[in-house]
Amino acid sequence: MLSEKMLEGLNNQINMEMQAYYTYLSMSAYFEDQGLKGFASWMFHHSEEEMTHAMKIYDFIHSRRGRVKLTALVTPPSEWEKPLEAVESALHHEQKVTAAIHNLVKVAREEGDYATDSFLQWFVDEQVEEEEVVDDLIQKLTLIGDFSPGLYLLDRELSENVGEEDEEE
Ligand code: FEO
Repeated sequence: MLSEKMLEGLNNQINMEMQAYYTYLSMSAYFEDQGLKGFASWMFHHSEEEMTHAMKIYDFIHSRRGRVKLTALVTPPSEWEKPLEAVESALHHEQKVTAAIHNLVKVAREEGDYATDSFLQWFVDEQVEEEEVVDDLIQKLTLIGDFSPGLYLLDRELSENVGEEDEEE
């Protein structure tokens, strides 16, 4: 049985993962509009992953006989000044998600809820990978700067690599 506090935290986390899904989907649409098909499909894939994260928590709450309560999503931005700005905002969102997951682990430990603690460890590990791949993209975009052929090549590389980083999941 989940405590009220744990349940509220997990329901909030569903919202956060869904917000990430919605925001990354909006980024994917922005990249499509920019003619960056590789970025668009990379970000679309990433958005789908966020949906699976939300659903993992959704299923876990039910398996613990808790009540899932869905809440409103915020309208995501639809325009960014350039690809680097979009990817930087994705990293900021991931950092917020990481902090929220760590806080949930803290609550689980304070309450002696070992099952939720164990369940959350997958998310702790996942966040390390998520931040790493987004940060890697930021580094590449920073190196490229305003050099269009570099952006073209990176876009092509991304279209070839979509989904590779989570093959081991
Ligand atoms: Fe599910 Fe990227 O946090």
